Amino acid sequence: MLKQEAEDGLRSFADPQFRADVLAGLTARPRAIPARWFYDRRGSALFERITALPEYYPTRTEIGVLTACAPAVARLTGAARAVVEFGSGSSAKTPILLAAVAPSAYVPIDISGDFLRDSARALAAAHPGLPVLPVEADFLRPIALPGEVAGAPKLGFFPGSTIGNMGPRQAVDLLRAMRASLGEGAQLLIGMDRVKDASTLIAAYDDAAGVTAAFNLNLLARINRELDGTIPLDAFRHEARWNDAAARVEMHLAATRDAAFTVDGRPFAIAAGETIHTENSHKYGPRDARLLLRAGGWTPLTEWTDPDGLFAVILAEAQGEETAP
Ligand code: AVJ
Repeated sequence: MLKQEAEDGLRSFADPQFRADVLAGLTARPRAIPARWFYDRRGSALFERITALPEYYPTRTEIGVLTACAPAVARLTGAARAVVEFGSGSSAKTPILLAAVAPSAYVPIDISGDFLRDSARALAAAHPGLPVLPVEADFLRPIALPGEVAGAPKLGFFPGSTIGNMGPRQAVDLLRAMRASLGEGAQLLIGMDRVKDASTLIAAYDDAAGVTAAFNLNLLARINRELDGTIPLDAFRHEARWNDAAARVEMHLAATRDAAFTVDGRPFAIAAGETIHTENSHKYGPRDARLLLRAGGWTPLTEWTDPDGLFAVILAEAQGEETAP
């Protein structure tokens, strides 16, 4: 109820972590706000529209790769694994995997209980007889899985190139936490967007219809709604950049003129040309992806990609204790 009111514009509740991240992010130089705060109700709806844009190749490409590789994945993983998805599950991708691998249980993990319960209910309805065991937790840290799957070997599932939102150091920490959560003998099926020419990448994050711009600018609207902000939205424009040295697309909100505003009663100022950095989307070449996985405790087994090599789906297995040399 409180959350609903906030999203409807009757500012009455704000996540204290959102407030802390925004105030710290607007104070820091360079200014930066974590990308996870894009996904309020409106932001989630805009992201759904992004996934259908002609320029945004990752979602449809990954679905194509998953559909094609699912039988091979099933052969390599064997039957009766518990599928553990990091994130609350996508209506398009999760059923492709579940239909192919005949899992003993499905365990979606998400920090947002609302999304988690909705998608768990839908998946349970679509897969009668499959135990669906949602876990509300922050998967950046090792997680205790439900007792029902204690004896089953695990198949982790982390699609969407969500790992790209993290820098390499945080990504390695996450992979290691996943290995700890999933245990000995686990496998991991992960989607990673590949490095490609800058014009394709920029177009995917700066579409002609302006949906990604609306997605980025919605963060400021959310701040105004939920944190009593006075940010003039017309003083900012969406910007997507390819940072080649860091191999990532960056999204920024760039001030088009000097602006002063308050958030939660505190004053802020930004000069024309300065930006608020709102997202990183790291891209990985084939060897980059395999090195990242090995650094995170996973040995790559097989990988699949589309004919144009835009997007990779990689199956890896948990490393045993390292032995010399
Ligand atoms: C959900 C993080 C994979 O980085 O491509 C899409 C988010 N941002 N367009 C991505 C996003 C702008 C997306 N991920």
